[in-house]
Amino acid sequence: MTKIAILGYGVVGSGVAEVLHNSAAMIEARRGIALSVKSILDIRRFPGDPFEHCFVSSFDDIENDLSVRVVVETIGGTGAAYDFTKRALKSGKHVVTSNKELVAEHGPELLELAREKQVNYLFEAAVGGGTPLIYPLAQCLSANRISSVCGILNGTCNYILTRMRDNGFTFDEALLEAQKSGYAEGDPSDDILGHDTARKISILASLVIGRQIFPKHVQTMGINRVTPEHLREAADNGYAIKLIGRVTICESSPPVIYAEPHLLKRGHPLFAVDGVFNAVLITGDVVGDVLFYGKGAGKEPTASAVVSDIVACMRANDPLGGLAWYEIPVRLAQPDSIHSAPHHTFTDGTTLRVM
Ligand code: HSE
Repeated sequence: MTKIAILGYGVVGSGVAEVLHNSAAMIEARRGIALSVKSILDIRRFPGDPFEHCFVSSFDDIENDLSVRVVVETIGGTGAAYDFTKRALKSGKHVVTSNKELVAEHGPELLELAREKQVNYLFEAAVGGGTPLIYPLAQCLSANRISSVCGILNGTCNYILTRMRDNGFTFDEALLEAQKSGYAEGDPSDDILGHDTARKISILASLVIGRQIFPKHVQTMGINRVTPEHLREAADNGYAIKLIGRVTICESSPPVIYAEPHLLKRGHPLFAVDGVFNAVLITGDVVGDVLFYGKGAGKEPTASAVVSDIVACMRANDPLGGLAWYEIPVRLAQPDSIHSAPHHTFTDGTTLRVM
């Protein structure tokens, strides 16, 4: 029996516990791995919860528990999550996470530590929620030089933009709904101001380039200044407005990376991606274009990715096949100014890029 410890019992942590409970028999029958939750670390208590008996008060209890093979980190941020992740890896436990902030800031170091200790540090849930992206990039596309990754990477923003356009919601009404549905970050400004998208595109760019791209170097603009009038005017002109994370790589110049609201022409593969859905278009020199589509946020989709990573930990020594990125600085090119790139200027003077 593989025993699992979950750090943080919020939307994602509790989703992981539920999915493990509900799918354990199927996973055992089909994959030959018996999984069960041994401990949950959270400062809160949940009387009457089916996992009430699993709660522990200190990370020491998990670190010193030799029966725990996999630690699931869903605390978020780069404080306690960073410390606990390092301690878990150092004590020879696999770590699976949905924490994009930690992966974007400290991915190389944590992957290296995992390698040293011959365990895995997996983070499929950190980008695209339930949509598989990391494993396909690491394994299925390994024959390719990737020239472009372009995606809708934030479910909350895509949900807000869709509800404002289709249902006449105000920005605040749509945000409240997204928060109630468990899509938004603890601090929703990370979603709305584009930081969450910047972190996710940094992770994908780092994986593709093999060197560390920090989110602070990604030119970032949120959706907070997008109005219902912009959405209407865009639709009248045959465009959708989407928050896009994009990296373009060519051999002759430094990579370009940004996270910005974008106009997409009808017919673009990401044009019709609405609601909480994410989609990422990856272009490789051998395969051409590949499109990944699925729910980018929420309890079950995120838990789906986490539990799959737990299974991957138990099935293989190195499921990402040596994929890593290194802490070597990389020079980025400034994105062309919006006015020199294809763009649309709205009647109120706001200008957005067009694809
Ligand atoms: N707040 C994030 C989103 C959660 O809305 O996409 C998943 O990373």
